[in-house]
Amino acid sequence: MKKPEMVLILDFGGQHSQLLARRVREFEVYCEVHPCNLSVEQVKAMAPAGIILTGGPADATSPAAPSFDLEILNLGVPVLGICYGHLLIAHLSGGRVEEGLAQEYGRATLTPTAKSTLLEGVQENSACWISHSFVVSSLPEPFVITGRTDACIAAMENAEKRLYGVQFHPEVSHTECGNTVIKNFLFGICGLSGGWTMEKYAETAIEEIRKTVGNGQVLLALSGGVDSSVCAALVSKAVGKQLTCVFVDHGLMRKDEGDEVEEAFKGHFDLNFLRANEQAHFLSHLKGVSDPEQKRKIIGREFIRVFEKYAKQIGTVDFLCQGTIYPDVIESGPGQAAVIKSHHNVGGLPDVVNFREIIEPLRPLFKDEVRKLGLALGLPEHLVWRQPFPGPGLAIRVMGEITEDKLRIVRESDAIFRAEIAAAGLEKSIHQYFTVLTETKTVGMMDNARTFENVLALRAVATTDFMTADWVRIPYEVLDKVSSRIISEVPGTNRIVYDITSKPPATIEWE
Ligand code: XMP
Repeated sequence: MKKPEMVLILDFGGQHSQLLARRVREFEVYCEVHPCNLSVEQVKAMAPAGIILTGGPADATSPAAPSFDLEILNLGVPVLGICYGHLLIAHLSGGRVEEGLAQEYGRATLTPTAKSTLLEGVQENSACWISHSFVVSSLPEPFVITGRTDACIAAMENAEKRLYGVQFHPEVSHTECGNTVIKNFLFGICGLSGGWTMEKYAETAIEEIRKTVGNGQVLLALSGGVDSSVCAALVSKAVGKQLTCVFVDHGLMRKDEGDEVEEAFKGHFDLNFLRANEQAHFLSHLKGVSDPEQKRKIIGREFIRVFEKYAKQIGTVDFLCQGTIYPDVIESGPGQAAVIKSHHNVGGLPDVVNFREIIEPLRPLFKDEVRKLGLALGLPEHLVWRQPFPGPGLAIRVMGEITEDKLRIVRESDAIFRAEIAAAGLEKSIHQYFTVLTETKTVGMMDNARTFENVLALRAVATTDFMTADWVRIPYEVLDKVSSRIISEVPGTNRIVYDITSKPPATIEWE
């Protein structure tokens, strides 16, 4: 993808590196996160307009500590060191860094002590967040102190060489002046112009895709999830019917979802849309299988087989398009090998399709940017804001063996749960919510008669990264409405329970 003006973030293994990148992008400035050990030549080749050195847990004075090519400070490009980055600039430029006497861990108050473009607009006694126990105890020449907390040099600079350091984290929300400092660096010091919007991104991406694809044929596995949908919309705008989307309907989607995906793409986008109606195929392969891992494996394997069958009908495929996004790509941490996660939903596809090249037009984008791009390309809100949905679909929300009737119960109850969450205005605050059909039956009463039916569970979690999650305190009235509606509208259930376990120790899905 053609590069706009960009800020380079060198990552020293701090926990906030991704957050920092998002903060920069919120100012409509493109940035990339790379490992800290890039050479000065590599950095030069990227032609960044500014460089940020992130925080990190190490002791900057230790010979084993992660470092960077010091020549980077002589490129004439503005550099901002944050926390560990700040300590490292001081240490490597001849200053002194020591374990702090009074450890100011967490909340501190910052006061500017000299005129500085970086701290312009920062008030006295402004709250800031500090997370390193080492501090700069004497400055390198010719740096000056521009801000202090009670216990440390909070900001230093060599304005002539445009080198800056802050002990605190401007990217975290506890730092009151955080956005001011980032903005001052980007616009006041680096002289960036901003304006990197998703509309702009779409324009350049479309141009690039056209150039790359030429007259070739592009194949995309469309799942109906946000990433593959936005990919489809983007590539369709670029090359129209040279794009074929294969949508494998395995019958494990939520209520009406297959039709919604078809409707969103067929009439509204210029592309070939192939819906593989393979519901019966998947059900027959899952018959008699109750082990969760086996169910997952069968679905994954059959997905690839089915996709291969449809891909062969298309003929020559030149490009396979994948919806990889930036968090899957970021190579993080000092001295670590590149950790690149392959896209879990389409992992095996490159092996069964003959193609020349993979194209990944969402590779530089975070999830919220993908959503903005989707809206800019005219995708409907419900697709763009769709909650994550696992590749194996409802198969891992029906405990044990899957039958058509059990799928019906989960599908109908899930639709009611979703409708009530939407009616209560909770859609955007709960990150994932669904129903699970347990394998337990209990006694109940209905119309004065004994019933012996299934227990259904409700699951709703709030999370930032899906690695950890908290169960959501849904108001009782909403739970009450959901429960009564499911019992009266979905035959086959007579008891609803609410899952109040966080992750860990539980996972989000039940299987
Ligand atoms: P767990 O259950 O592991 O889920 O806490 C974390 C997130 O991942 C989703 N998930 C999957 N997504 N293929 C996927 O594409 C899968 O096999 C799969 N299993 C779980 C889950 O819905 C949650 O968002």
